[in-house]
Amino acid sequence: MRKQIVAGNWKMNKNVQESIKLANEVVANVKELALNNTRVIVTPTFVNLSSVLKATEGSAVEVAAQNMHQAKSGAFTGEISADMLTSLGIKTVILGHSERREYFGETDAILAEKVNAALENKLEVIFCFGEVLEDRKSENHFNVVESQIKNGLFHLEASAWKNIVLAYEPVWAIGTGETASPEQAQEMHAFIRKIVANKYTKEVAENVSILYGGSVKPSNAKEIFSKEDVDGGLIGGAALNANDFVALVKSF
Ligand code: PGA
Repeated sequence: MRKQIVAGNWKMNKNVQESIKLANEVVANVKELALNNTRVIVTPTFVNLSSVLKATEGSAVEVAAQNMHQAKSGAFTGEISADMLTSLGIKTVILGHSERREYFGETDAILAEKVNAALENKLEVIFCFGEVLEDRKSENHFNVVESQIKNGLFHLEASAWKNIVLAYEPVWAIGTGETASPEQAQEMHAFIRKIVANKYTKEVAENVSILYGGSVKPSNAKEIFSKEDVDGGLIGGAALNANDFVALVKSF
């Protein structure tokens, strides 16, 4: 059965002391919960991964990275490799976030390479994609999402999909306070599951967790997470506050 996931993407927020404090607060609050089928992930910036790993050690809270470079090693000043992440104890990496695509020029082709490098290093990938507002207005959103998934992931063997989590994040809803309606999210998630089933098998499609991201907060999470094909959320702003984040974990 696929897992429910609440993943907090801290982006370029929180220095080391603030990261440890937030991680400690999340750990303390999550301890009380019977998580059963729910995974809780926090994603600090690279320089704070070690400290947050230490703060969450022995707890149910997992730690992921926000990005990585596709090359094994080499002259790529300022970049981080998959091996550097796994050697720290990181097991999951977010790839393809719209901010990486938009501000750092990450194309579908680069992302396919990153996905391969991550999987070769036994990292699980949270693969993000989503349309911009113009695509939605011109009713091109299904095509855009399909091509992002196809170009980034459909070269993989079916067996690789056990290490893939999908995150649908309509760009117009990220950090804007505007959320896709639960119906819009469900419609897209069902479409995504259908194209994965068509390319692979129904079993692969049924087992992949599909997260929704874009202004999820305690006041709207319950309704969004209750949709059949929504398996949790990738959370930005609301993940920076422990009470809000834990409220989201409790929203299933
Ligand atoms: P948001 O960000 O929750 O602040 O909209 C979501 C994301 O970028 O993953």
